[in-house]
Formats: sequence, C-alpha cells, structure tokens
Amino acid sequence: MAGGEGGSAGAMGGAMWGGMFEGGAEAVFRALNDSLPFDWRLVQEDVRGSIAWGRAIASAGVFSEAELAEVVRALGAIGEEAAGLGGPPVESGAEDVHTWVEQRLIARAGELGKRLHTGRSRNDQVATDLRLWAKSACGTLIEAVALVRGALIDVAEREAETAMPAYTHLQRAQPITAGHWALAYEAMLARDARRLVLARESADACPLGCAALAGTTLAVDREAIARDLGFMRAAENSIDAVSDRDFVLDLIHACVQCATHLSRLGEDLIIYASAEFAFVRMADGVTSGSSLMPQKKNPDACELLRGSAGRVLGRYAGFAATLKGLPTAYNKDLQEDKEAVFDAVDRTRACLVLAERVVAGLVFDRERCARAAETGFLNATELADYLVSKGVAFRDAHDAVGRCVRHAMSKGVGLESLAVIREVEPRVGDDAAAWLTVARMLERRGALGGTSPVRVREAAGAARSRLVSERA
Ligand code: ARG
Repeated sequence: MAGGEGGSAGAMGGAMWGGMFEGGAEAVFRALNDSLPFDWRLVQEDVRGSIAWGRAIASAGVFSEAELAEVVRALGAIGEEAAGLGGPPVESGAEDVHTWVEQRLIARAGELGKRLHTGRSRNDQVATDLRLWAKSACGTLIEAVALVRGALIDVAEREAETAMPAYTHLQRAQPITAGHWALAYEAMLARDARRLVLARESADACPLGCAALAGTTLAVDREAIARDLGFMRAAENSIDAVSDRDFVLDLIHACVQCATHLSRLGEDLIIYASAEFAFVRMADGVTSGSSLMPQKKNPDACELLRGSAGRVLGRYAGFAATLKGLPTAYNKDLQEDKEAVFDAVDRTRACLVLAERVVAGLVFDRERCARAAETGFLNATELADYLVSKGVAFRDAHDAVGRCVRHAMSKGVGLESLAVIREVEPRVGDDAAAWLTVARMLERRGALGGTSPVRVREAAGAARSRLVSERA
C-alpha cells in the first residue's frame, strides 16, 4: 500500500486516473483514501455490474459480439480468481475494488479491458455494487429474523399455560403467560422483517448508466441494464442516483430497530435469569463462568445483544451525520457508507443468530414463575373488577382495593385472605375467591391480543402461519 511511483501505472500505484498527476500520492493520504481493504466485499457485485455494463455498451457499439464474449469470459474468470483469494489483494496497489477488477481485466483482456470503463464512472459503479449487496443482505437478515421468530413461537407454544408476573416500571403488575411474553418479541421481529423488505425496495433501483453525475453519452438502455442486474427499476435522476445513500440509512435503520428489540429481549432475560427472579435458566452454551467466583453463570450472550444495539445505532448516527452537509452529487465522504452498513449488518446478523440459540435454550422454571405470579398483589385489579361486578363504580373500587392492599400488607397476607379483607371492605363475598386465582385472571383476558392460554395458542398458530407464508 506504499505510495505509487507514477510512471505508466499513474501517480498512485495502479491508479486509473494518473495521467495528469506528477509524483506519488502521500502514504498517509493513501492509507485513508484506499478502500480496497473493506470494499473488497463488493468484488462479486462489481464483476456482475461490469458484465452488465459490458453488455450495455456492446449494444451501443463499443464491443463487437466476439469482443463482448471475451470481456465477459475474462470478468467471469476474475470473479473466480477473487473467490479464490483469502482477502483483499492490497499488494496489487489498487485503490479500490473497482480499480482492482479493471486492472485484472486489462491484464487478461488487454486493450478490450481498457474499453470497459467507456461512459461509466466509479460513481454509478459503486452505487450499483452497494445496492446489489444491500438487497442480498436484506434477504439474509430476513432469514435470520425468521429463525428467531420461529424459536419464539416454539416458546409460546411450550409455555402457553405458564403463568408469570408481568411488570410495568419493573414493578409487579399483572400475571401473564410466558408464551404471551415470547409472542411480544415475535411481534417486534415480524415488524423488523417488514422493515427489511422496505429497505430492500429502497435499494432496488439501478444507478448504472448515470456515469459521474450528468448521465452517460452512450446510447444505452438503462431499463435493460436494471433488468439484467435484477433491479426493479432504473434510478431516475443521474445526480441523485450517484449520491443517494438513503437505501444505506434505511437498511441500517432496520438493523437498529432489530438490534434494539434483541437488546430488550436480552435485558428481560438477564433479569429473569437472576437468582432474585429465577424464572428462566439459560443454556450453558450461551453463558460464561467467572475466573474468580466458581458459582457464577453469567448471561454474556444477552449482555452482548444489549451492548450491540448501541453500536449499531452508532453506525446509523455516524453515517447520517456524514450525509447531512454534502453538496450535490458524489463526494468522497460517501465512501464511509460501506464500513457503516457492513458493520451494522454483520453485527445485527450475528446477534440474530445468537438470539436464536439463546431463545431455543431457555428453560422456564414453571413452579417458580407460578409462585411469583401468586404473590405481590397481582390480583388487585381483579378484586376491583369483582367489586365492579357488584355494582361499584371502577374509580371507587380502585380506591377500596387500595385500602384492602394496605390492610393486607400490614397483616402480612394476600388479597385471597378474604376474612382479613372484609375487615376493611365488607362488600367482598365468598365468591371473590374464584376471581382472585391466577388461572382465572389469565383466562379472563381472552379478548384479541390478550394473555389467556387459549388466545396465546391461537396467536402462536397465527404467527406460525404468517411466518410460513412470508418465507414462501
Ligand atoms: N471507493 C469509492 C467509494 O467507495 C469509489 C468511488 C470513487 N469515486 C470517485 N469519484 N473518486 O466511494
């Protein structure tokens, strides 16, 4: 990666723009300017885009049939050559992946290789490559999201009857079923999948043929190029096409939302797995021990899910800030797009794969969950509902039950101790006992979206069929 020496290779070793320049580029400049170490990931997309461009300019008369066939053959071989390399060939001196592909093409096809860049710019080229990559990344992420959703639906089916306390403000609120809790996360991830579909649509326009910014002089059919590369459409405005990175932000944003959901899932499980709660145990394979305290089983996987959300959000914030002050059309700042989106996608994908393992290995301590759901006055709302059924207005019932809770607390009993409750609220009859059981509380929440075991089973089934049809 040392500075180039000029000469026939140009001012920067192997540069494609050296004609006007004298002397080599500063090594410190090259270190920051060269993107090959990271844009190497786009090499197959660059080869595909180059083949499509070769075909397009052949129809505009730049290559004969036979010449095009040779260029396409050489590009195919370059794709294979790239696949065989362990990593970016930085010793080539190529500034970026586009330069490398072109260098190799010239090495293989000589003068024909030098003609491929006719009417094309790296500006429309890189935007095309990255859009191709983003589209396929969305597909990969949607698949990974689907696996976590499947694992959550499994939990919902297994634990449709498992009562546990639910919390608001991290204070015991009302009983729910553990299956209902799992489906809450499934719902979040289903929205993430939808957002990824939208991010894929956002990337689904082809900039090739927009050249540097003003459009190409060659008589190419841009719609045909778009179709050739599997894009839904050709990008409309050439200036916008070379500088639009909305699709990058849309994809990172989808990652941010997804990583945030996984972070909250991780946080719940860290709490639920603590000795104080002990609602769940995590599989050994996603936890770690302590180098000092032999008794420890630490929920590192969940902590990493939680920690990753900040990192992915940082990628969004960082790249959004890069974009905000850019003047019209391509600027080198845009090169920041790649590390941002690669890292956001890689980390989100890794988190999804990990989350699936965490969820699949969860074991609920049903006894402990049930006992926790029976204490802490989770049935206070129920007692108020009972009084309402006896004709008391809800606001008065709320107030009365508040007094009951206070009295029960002072006696060290729960609301089920009806004799104690009657000391402050004589309207509580023997029939209240049935209202206050956890099973009854769960059962009563049978309206759409509620936590009753029947509803949870039904919702798990519906989620499963949605997942299956989305994947079909
Ligand atoms: N490596 C560059 C990038 O990633 C490719 C585009 C270069 N364009 C240019 N006009 N220098 O953005």
